[in-house]
Amino acid sequence: MPTKTPDLPGIAVVFGASGGIGSALVAALSQNPRYVEVLGFSRSGPHTFDLTDEASMAASAARIAQSGQPLRTVIDATGALTAEGCIAEKSWRQLDPETMARAFQINAIGPALLMKHILPLLPREGKSVFATLSARVGSIGDNQLGGWYSYRASKAALNQIVRTAAVELRRNNPAAICVALHPGTVDTSFTQRFAKTGLEVQTPQVSAEKLLAVIDGLDASRTGTFIDQHGYTIEW
Ligand SMILES: NC(=O)c1ccc[n+]([C@@H]2O[C@H](COP(=O)([O-])OP(=O)(O)OC[C@H]3O[C@@H](n4cnc5c(N)ncnc54)[C@H](OP(=O)(O)O)[C@@H]3O)[C@@H](O)[C@H]2O)c1
Repeated sequence: MPTKTPDLPGIAVVFGASGGIGSALVAALSQNPRYVEVLGFSRSGPHTFDLTDEASMAASAARIAQSGQPLRTVIDATGALTAEGCIAEKSWRQLDPETMARAFQINAIGPALLMKHILPLLPREGKSVFATLSARVGSIGDNQLGGWYSYRASKAALNQIVRTAAVELRRNNPAAICVALHPGTVDTSFTQRFAKTGLEVQTPQVSAEKLLAVIDGLDASRTGTFIDQHGYTIEW
């Protein structure tokens, strides 16, 4: 496990606050007295945004800046295994350009635009973290099972975007941290559509606690890495 770094007061933000993991993150962050405010953004509110609408992300950034408090923790808990009406491919025979484009839109391009608007808000003084929820299946080196072409490829693209943004962030804000996190297998609407036999499934609450412990333990040496719910680095 990583070593703990000092906790600094400020605000926390969750994008995807309506999701299984996102809502558990908002609840857990709200219990932490060092956050003077916890803002949850989702398509259904309380603060609205959509990953397919860049203007809504710019407006979210403006709302965050309005708080006037240092932005200490941002978690992007958005994502989709399949866009509505699409399947998670088991074979190249099922590849469909529209399905692939939608997966990249939600899992890679949307989060990249969030980084564009949110990373500049991270304070230059003291630790701050932008964490996006990726997935272990986005690891190319770890791919032994195949399948889920669009989801895997879009999360691999997200990982590369995180790494690239972390390099740029380190140049102009060395105290800030940008990482991709794997939440473990979590019982949410996301996983309801596939068999979880043989997998260790956790509740969103347990996953949120683990993810927040990992974030608390991060220091600047871990920026630009891909980390699981136990704090261990995952190969790209
Ligand atoms: N659950 C798992 O076992 C597991 C495992 C590995 C990785 N992950 C990753 O963890 C993250 C969260 O998963 P979850 O299980 O909490 O899934 P979830 O319950 O389905 O939540 C997904 C979230 O993404 C949001 N979202 C989807 N499309 C959006 C869009 N166009 N604009 C804005 N928000 C959008 C959803 O908002 P709406 O409510 O508006 O649809 C929802 O808040 C995902 O990135 C997933 O890949 C999950």
